Formats: sequence, structure tokens, C-alpha cells
Amino acid sequence: MKILFVLMLALAALFAFAQAEEKCDEACPYNYAPVCAKPLTGTGKALTFGNDCAVRVYSCETKTSSKAPTFPDDGKLRLYTMKFCPFGHRSQLIVEANKIPNHTVFVNTKDKPEWFIEKSPTAKVPTLEIPNKPEPLVESLIVSDYLVDYQPNSSLKSSDSYQRALDNILLDRYNGVISLFYAMLRGTAESTPENVTKFFNALEYYENQLKKRGTKFFNGSRPGFVDYMIWPWIERIDIVPNLIKGTFEWDENRFKNFLTWKKDMEQDPTVNTFWLSVEDHTTFITTFAAGNPNFYIQLISVVFIATLTNTSPAKKDSCQTVCTADYTPICAQIAQGKGADITFGNSCVLANYNCQHKDRAYTRKSDGECPGKAPVRL
Ligand SMILES: *[C@@H]1O[C@H](CO)[C@@H](O)[C@H](O)[C@H]1NC(C)=O
Ligand SMILES: *[C@@H]1O[C@H](CO)[C@@H](O)[C@H](O)[C@H]1NC(C)=O
Ligand SMILES: *[C@@H]1O[C@H](CO)[C@@H](O)[C@H](O)[C@H]1NC(C)=O
Ligand SMILES: *[C@@H]1O[C@H](CO)[C@@H](O)[C@H](O)[C@H]1NC(C)=O
Repeated sequence: MKILFVLMLALAALFAFAQAEEKCDEACPYNYAPVCAKPLTGTGKALTFGNDCAVRVYSCETKTSSKAPTFPDDGKLRLYTMKFCPFGHRSQLIVEANKIPNHTVFVNTKDKPEWFIEKSPTAKVPTLEIPNKPEPLVESLIVSDYLVDYQPNSSLKSSDSYQRALDNILLDRYNGVISLFYAMLRGTAESTPENVTKFFNALEYYENQLKKRGTKFFNGSRPGFVDYMIWPWIERIDIVPNLIKGTFEWDENRFKNFLTWKKDMEQDPTVNTFWLSVEDHTTFITTFAAGNPNFYIQLISVVFIATLTNTSPAKKDSCQTVCTADYTPICAQIAQGKGADITFGNSCVLANYNCQHKDRAYTRKSDGECPGKAPVRL
């Protein structure tokens, strides 16, 4: 009975794996004979692979997944971003708020494709390509500002130049908040408490601005440019208490207006379009911040699991496979019992998940992300 169950799961995982491997379909052996490999070109970090074969599959997948996208000749803007990047998030919010016809392309920012490095002046997201213009735009505030003006009737900014200048001061100072956000996450047990204090001190300026303006949002009765430029890090703020080496606690009196603003922003339809759960943001930040994304170093063993009993201490390693870091999401549903659908970064990630969670296997439901606020696994 147990063996049959495991076999079924193995088959499901094998099926998902086969779908992931249309071109790079070399079947690797299941031994763990780790090799350290460095990129042939570029300056990327060296990675540990399960074995030689895993290196070949990884190289093949990276190559095939990095063809430059092609677009119809429709005059639409092309926004290159990364789903979990707060800077790209800024520009996505403006595209959506202003309903700008566009092509959004998610770029693998960990392992940047050659074509993107050639296309973007800084090889960073967001990059905005404008048909018939010689050079793409970069830097989130500049791209977002352009996107506001791109829509002639946009109401995201004040038409008064003095008010716009005041708004720009808010945005200029916000760079300090952003630096402290990351300083808190990176800090040691000694430095973190001090940076938490500094962070709240920097944020107090925004509390006071809301109080002074006497409006629900920085822009007025509806969110505008400033609100959307500030938002991405505030959406991510709830991950901080779980990740830092120290305490992070809101003083609800001190940040009364700001916390109300946060709640109101969460209700905004534009914010909702891109909203990700604390769990999703945490997964991303912990995987990427470690500089050693778990999907690089894994080694598949579908058949191995089938022959393995659950007493083997080697079980965890046996599940690991080499997945590319590309984001070609698929929506999957749980095979047995009940549970919400999950968006997996790509089919390989799904196969791994099934290998590691034998009692909660998922099967492909559709290509693309699951609708609504389904969690995302990378
Ligand atoms: C922008 O492009 C993405 C996909 O490329 C699309 O899903 C989205 O609806 C577009 N946004 C608008 C406002 O047209
Ligand atoms: C701007 O104008 C377009 C077309 O004229 C219209 O569809 C859109 O709703 C307008 N947007 C705003 C924010 O008024
Ligand atoms: C933002 O503020 C300006 C100036 O007060 C106003 O004209 C505009 O309608 C506001 N935008 C939104 C989205 O509320
Ligand atoms: C804040 O964080 C930075 C970066 O992690 C660190 O170098 C610094 O010592 C921390 N403390 C202060 C007070 O800046």
C-alpha cells in the first residue's frame, strides 16, 4: 500500500519533471557527487551541483530559457521587471493605476539573461522599453515618473509645481527608509536594534506628513504617485519581525496615521493586483538574500524515492534537483484532500516540491499564475 502510494507520487513528480524538460531532457543519475561549477561567461557566483549531469542540465535549461522575448508591432510599452522586486513593483503599480497598455516581462534577475544585459543600460529592473525610442529607461522613480506622464489625463500627481516639489522631497527622503529597511534585514544581533530605531525615526516623517496633509492618502482622497512609490516596502514590512535578529514592533500611537494609511492602501484595487502574502515575500527574500537560492543546488531523484523507505537519513538530499531560476509559473492543485492552489515558479520547482512533500503532492492545473492571491513557491 505504502509502496504503491509512493510510486504514484513518484510518477506524478516524474510527469511534472518530464514536462519541464522538453529540450534539456537528459536523465541524470541519482548519486550525490557534488561539483562546484562557475559560469562560463559573465561574473556570476560558482554553484554547487549534485553531480556532473546536473551541471549539464542546468546549463542547457539556462540557455534555452534565455531567448529574448519577441513582441507584436503594437506600439505598446515593454516593462521588464521581476515579480518580487520592490523597485519593479513601483512601476507595475503605475502601469496598472494608469491602465497603460503594455507588455510586462519578468526577468530572472539572479542569473541575468544575455539579451537583457544587452538591452538594459544598467541590466536592472525596472527597465522600460519604448517602441521607436533609441534607449530604454531605467531607475524605478524615473521609469515610474515617465509612466505617469505617458498617460495624458493621469491624475496621479498634482498639477501644481510647488505641490509636486513637496512630493518629491518625500520621495527623496524615502531612499533613507529603503536603506534602513535592508540594514535591518542584514544586521547582526548588535547592529539591528539600532537600525530598527533609525528606521522608525525615518518613517516618522511620513507619519507627520500624513497628519499635516490631513488626508487619507499622501495624494489626497485616493492614492497617487507618492503613495505608490512608497508602498512596495510597506507591503513587505510585515516580513521584518520574522527575519531580523532583534525586535520590530509598531508603536500604534506614534504611527496612528501611517498604520491607517497602510490598511487603506491594502484595500486599493491597484495595490491588490500585485499584492503578495507575507509568506511569498519571505520565501523570496530568504532564498535570494542567502545568495544561495535553494533551486540552484538541487538534484533530482524520483526513482530513488520510490525505492527508498522513509527511514533513510539521505532522503532530503535525494530529492534535490537542478531547477533554473526562471519564472514561468504554473498553477497547481493538491492531488489528494483539500488545500488552496499554489503557483510554482516553474515545473521543476513543482517536481521538487512533490518530492519533498510526499504527503501533499500537487498536480498541474494550468499554465501561468493561479488567479487571486494564491501563494507562490520559487
Ligand atoms: C500589462 O501587461 C501585462 C502582461 O504583459 C498584462 O497582464 C496587464 O494587464 C497589462 N496592464 C495593463 C494596464 O494593460
Ligand atoms: C484617460 O483617458 C482614456 C481615454 O481617453 C480613458 O479611457 C481613461 O479612463 C482616462 N483615465 C483617467 C484616469 O481619467
Ligand atoms: C492627486 O492630487 C491632485 C492634486 O490635489 C489631484 O488633482 C488628483 O486628482 C489626485 N489624484 C488622485 C488619484 O486622487
Ligand atoms: C545598520 O546596518 C548597517 C548595515 O548592516 C551596519 O553597517 C550598521 O552598523 C548598522 N547600525 C547602524 C547604527 O547603522
